[in-house]
Amino acid sequence: MKLAVLISGSGSNLQAFIDACEAGTLPADIAVVLSNKSEAGGLARAEAADIPTLVIDHREFESREAFDAAMVAALAPFAPDLVILAGFMRILTPAFIAAFRGRLLNIHPSLLPKYPGLHTHQRALDAGDTEAGATVHFVTEELDGGPPILFAQVAIVEGDNAALLADRVQLREHQLYPQAARWFVEGRLALQGDRALLDGEPLPPSGVDLDKVQD
Ligand code: GRF
Repeated sequence: MKLAVLISGSGSNLQAFIDACEAGTLPADIAVVLSNKSEAGGLARAEAADIPTLVIDHREFESREAFDAAMVAALAPFAPDLVILAGFMRILTPAFIAAFRGRLLNIHPSLLPKYPGLHTHQRALDAGDTEAGATVHFVTEELDGGPPILFAQVAIVEGDNAALLADRVQLREHQLYPQAARWFVEGRLALQGDRALLDGEPLPPSGVDLDKVQD
């Protein structure tokens, strides 16, 4: 299977995909990495792994629709089977989502459905939560609202702050995201309407706990 990975930043999740593909734990190839920022650190990671890169700067388009149409057109020659949003910091339009619905994944740094949107770790700290985490979900038209697939919890400890928590959550993201993609690549994961199915069975509303995954 061919993957397209969309980034805006450092690309540590992209690196986890590169490593998993190279190790064979994720039986797929990254066909292309697309960034909306030319300065995204993840582009160097892709180049180091000999993966083609595309930069499409959203500021050069007069609307979200025009930007998204340009991305769909640029991705088409690579014919991706699965599109991975890995720190891609643009809100996608319904037309983009329709082009890849059912094969479009995102990782969000909270235990969804808690804290869609930004500043997730600070919001968890402010709420006095004892656990933070990250969730991989199918992307649907609702921002960070598509059905969860897999999550990992990270304990909030005495003296924590948002930056410390983000670092610990990211380490789990790098395990979480390739595992969810592996299920898709193996043909075990599907989106049916607004429900995520694993092996034909609906997943729990918060997804599966990574710590309980056997295979
Ligand atoms: C991750 O923390 C992810 O949860 C969020 O954006 C961040 C991307 O980091 N959506 P990186 O670019 O993969 O290092």
